[in-house]
Amino acid sequence: MHVVELTAEQTHALRRAVLRGADPGANVVFDCDHDPATFHLGAVEDGVVVATSTWIPAPPSAQLRGMAVEPSRQGEGLATGLLEAAYESLRALGVELLWAHARDTALSFYTRAGFTVVGDGFVTPDTGLSHHLVTLSLNLEK
Ligand SMILES: CC(C)(COP(=O)(O)OP(=O)(O)OC[C@H]1O[C@@H](n2cnc3c(N)ncnc32)[C@H](O)[C@@H]1OP(=O)(O)O)[C@@H](O)C(=O)NCCC(=O)NCCS
Repeated sequence: MHVVELTAEQTHALRRAVLRGADPGANVVFDCDHDPATFHLGAVEDGVVVATSTWIPAPPSAQLRGMAVEPSRQGEGLATGLLEAAYESLRALGVELLWAHARDTALSFYTRAGFTVVGDGFVTPDTGLSHHLVTLSLNLEK
């Protein structure tokens, strides 16, 4: 798998398709998208973005947002590849703790990757879906 850095705009179509139910009116722009520290990692095939993820470092922690894989390509390890690529970049920035608001339908993806589920579930206003906070110590994942 070849992981590439995407622009914020390159993430939007896949975010809309996979994370917003293809709703043409949904907001797919995150407030952090253009922050200087934010970076977007993905996979592109034949000019089409098939996996996307957004990373917001604020050392010693960082947030992961907008992880999405094109439905016909799920289960092939693309998201795992994005995680592994990001860990390297985040450690180099001094990040020790990674966190995300994981939707419950994807929770076991995160626990298989070594994340811990923290606290009670909650519904995010932009999706209306149940989520849990998940965290991963990058120190332990070396
Ligand atoms: C969740 C998602 C990003 C995972 O991407 P992926 O490329 O399919 O994941 P991988 O192929 O790297 O899977 C790694 C492992 O997690 C498991 N897994 C993947 N998606 C899963 C899901 N939704 N629920 C439970 N387990 C999942 C895989 O079976 C695999 O396990 P294995 O190694 O034992 O076979 C992708 O399924 C997706 O885009 N889902 C819809 C959007 C979404 O929920 N995004 C997360 C928002 S918090």
